[in-house]
Order: sequence, then structure tokens, then C-alpha cells
Amino acid sequence: MAKEILPQAAVIYGASGDLTKRKLLPAFWHLWLQQRLPKGFALVGYARTAMTTEEFRQSTFDDVRKFSTHPPEGDAWDEFARRLSYYQGEFLEPGAMKDFATYLEKIDAEFGTEGRRIFDAAVPPTVYADIVRRIGEAGLQQDAKIVLEKPFVLDLQSAHDLDEGSRTGCSSRSGTVDTSTTCRSRSPRRSGSRGAAPSTSRSATSGT
Ligand SMILES: NC(=O)c1ccc[n+]([C@@H]2O[C@H](COP(=O)([O-])OP(=O)(O)OC[C@H]3O[C@@H](n4cnc5c(N)ncnc54)[C@H](OP(=O)(O)O)[C@@H]3O)[C@@H](O)[C@H]2O)c1
Repeated sequence: MAKEILPQAAVIYGASGDLTKRKLLPAFWHLWLQQRLPKGFALVGYARTAMTTEEFRQSTFDDVRKFSTHPPEGDAWDEFARRLSYYQGEFLEPGAMKDFATYLEKIDAEFGTEGRRIFDAAVPPTVYADIVRRIGEAGLQQDAKIVLEKPFVLDLQSAHDLDEGSRTGCSSRSGTVDTSTTCRSRSPRRSGSRGAAPSTSRSATSGT
């Protein structure tokens, strides 16, 4: 029997970047078309670039039309596009994601994503440790998975930084296919609630 896909929101950090445009957004669109995403689903783009949600939807439409083998059209596209939104935010300053946590609660209420999140860090490796810290500070770590795009780290120091940043409840594993850090809740997850620790993995969806 197929495993149930639990409701969740996907957050793409670096939503204005090349990987997002060429690989991640087309990959999510394909998954949506194949009905391999949960009914309770939303995709939030996060980056520093100023952009409205309408502009993000339009640029996603343009990117999908350019880079996907499946054109963005019909009711399926309209429903997918409705679930897209954009949040302009920083990565480096402490507390930068506190307001974002409130925003994600609104997404949960609107799209039934139940507080589960997958965070895809499509940003330079120099920003990974900061993102993991910001997620923890904002209390977004409960049931979270964090995807780090390769290259995973740049050198020994950045490996230590990432390790230190993810010690807030994460365990990591790496291999030739997946590089992942799974962060577990320190307390049992309450039904329909959010709040414990992140997990990171190399997404298989980008095909990179
Ligand atoms: N492109 C690919 O096909 C590909 C393939 C495999 C792996 N990757 C990996 O995926 C990650 C993203 O690559 P990319 O090609 O998408 O890079 P990119 O086009 O330069 O995009 C990076 C994004 O990260 C954001 N960002 C946040 N903090 C940043 C900082 N301090 N410096 C620069 N950008 C920052 C930028 O958005 P804002 O400026 O709006 O915040 C930008 O949109 C990298 O780790 C790369 O090695 C990429």
C-alpha cells in the first residue's frame, strides 16, 4: 500500500536563484501533476530580493514554461499557483525568521499544512549554518526537514560551523546520494501543533 503523504509546506530559501528556477520549481510542479504532493500543501519562496507573491507566481509560471517538460496550464496549474507565495527575508541577522514563523502559521491555517515543513536551502553553502540557526531561533524546528544543496560545506571550518548550528536537536547523515540531517523533537509532537527540531537532506527532486 502506498505510504500516506502527510500535509506539509515546502519553503525554498534562495527562491530568487538559479537552482530554484531551473530545477526546484519545475520539480515541485511535476510532483503536483503526478499527485505526489499531499492535499495539504503550500510552497513558500523566501529570499532577500524584493518581490510580491503575485510576482513570484508570475516568475514561477515563466520558469516552469521555460524549464519544465509539462506546460503550466489548466486547473492543475491554477491550484498549484494558488499554493505559491513569497516572503522577503534575511538570513544572517539573529531573529530574522521570527516573523516568518507567524507567516507560516497563517499558511498552515489556509492550506492545512499542519505545521510540518521542509526547508530547502537553495543558497550558497556559506549561508547554511545561519539558516539552520535562524530556523531554531524561530522555533520552526518541530517536525522540520532541511535540505542542503551540494556542495554541502566548503572546508573544515564551515563543516564545524554547520555541525555547531545543527546541534539544536539535529542528527546528520551523508552519502553519495543523500546528505541529510534529521532533527528530532525534544518533546513529543502535539497533534496539529508546531515547534521542535529540523532535519536536513539532499533533495532527490532537483536531479542535480
Ligand atoms: N544552479 C544549479 O543548477 C545548482 C546545481 C547544484 C547545486 N547548486 C547549489 O545550490 C545552491 C544555490 O545555487 P544557485 O545556482 O541557485 O545560486 P544563485 O543563483 O546565486 O542563487 C542563490 C540564492 O541565494 C540567495 N542568497 C542568500 N544569501 C546569499 C548570500 N549571502 N550570497 C548570495 N546569495 C544569497 C540569493 O537570493 P537573494 O539575494 O534574493 O536573497 C540567491 O537567489 C548553491 O549551494 C549551489 O552550489 C546549484
